[in-house]
Amino acid sequence: MTSEASAKRVLITGTTSGLGLALLEHYAKNGAQVIGVNRRRVAEIESRYPSVRFECVDVRSAEDVAELVRRLAASGQLPEVFILNAGINRVDNDESFRLSPYKEVVDTNLYGVLNFIAPLTQLPALHVRRHVVAIGSLAGYAGNPYGLGYHTSKKALTACFAVWARMYAGTDLVFQQVVLGPLRAGIYTMADKFPAWMVRTRNLFCAPLDGAVRAVSRFVLTRKQKLVYPWPAFPLYVAIGLAQRLIPGFFQGRKTLDGKTRRPGAGQ
Ligand SMILES: NC(=O)c1ccc[n+]([C@@H]2O[C@H](COP(=O)([O-])OP(=O)(O)OC[C@H]3O[C@@H](n4cnc5c(N)ncnc54)[C@H](OP(=O)(O)O)[C@@H]3O)[C@@H](O)[C@H]2O)c1
Repeated sequence: MTSEASAKRVLITGTTSGLGLALLEHYAKNGAQVIGVNRRRVAEIESRYPSVRFECVDVRSAEDVAELVRRLAASGQLPEVFILNAGINRVDNDESFRLSPYKEVVDTNLYGVLNFIAPLTQLPALHVRRHVVAIGSLAGYAGNPYGLGYHTSKKALTACFAVWARMYAGTDLVFQQVVLGPLRAGIYTMADKFPAWMVRTRNLFCAPLDGAVRAVSRFVLTRKQKLVYPWPAFPLYVAIGLAQRLIPGFFQGRKTLDGKTRRPGAGQ
């Protein structure tokens, strides 16, 4: 097995903004061969990083992802590190539960990762370690009830990666997960829908992107299973999760986002 001193070939999904773009920039500047996988072409980004190979693939398409992995393997260009970062968040469970946005989130955040795992685990074992890194969230521990797809997709991702990390321990496939707390990045957080004190509390724990990039890029060179970043956010989310379980009405979605009582006509 070879253990890279620094990742030389890295594939990152979702590099049009946020953490994915910051990681792309970090690896490109450090001379790695980077493959950015996006569902659309962004000419400005593609011209800014001429050394990066951009693949236009929607991670929700199992066929297209499998084809990409097979093509890279056949040409000997399979990366040593896969950072499966693409993710979205939607309001899917407010006045009523809405299947369509829920499914869109799960298709992206969960299947958009799992679509890589099926073809990767079908490849023959090699003498090179491949690090497969899921970008999870502390929201998998303490969920926002109005973004149910986000909470459940990240929770399922954590469970899948915990199983694979044990199952493939000591092999060429290293399954790792980054469990992120709030970052100064682009994902939709519903900040426009929550009271100012909640937004301020989140912002207090918000970590800068460059810190996350440093932490993730160091972590993917190890065989460690899990990175929680930023660490101080962890007790906050554990406390929120406990309060949701123990304090009636605490962040349980009993009212709609605009403060209406749920199902007001219902008798008790
Ligand atoms: N920011 C945070 O506070 C935070 C906290 C915890 C976890 N995370 C996780 O960190 C990851 C990155 O978050 P971020 O804040 O950097 O988000 P972001 O700025 O919104 O970036 C998300 C990226 O995913 C891409 N994407 C979405 N759907 C896709 C699809 N079907 N196929 C390919 N690419 C797709 C987006 O592309 P388009 O431009 O085409 O939409 C974009 O490039 C996510 O997995 C998120 O859950 C973030």
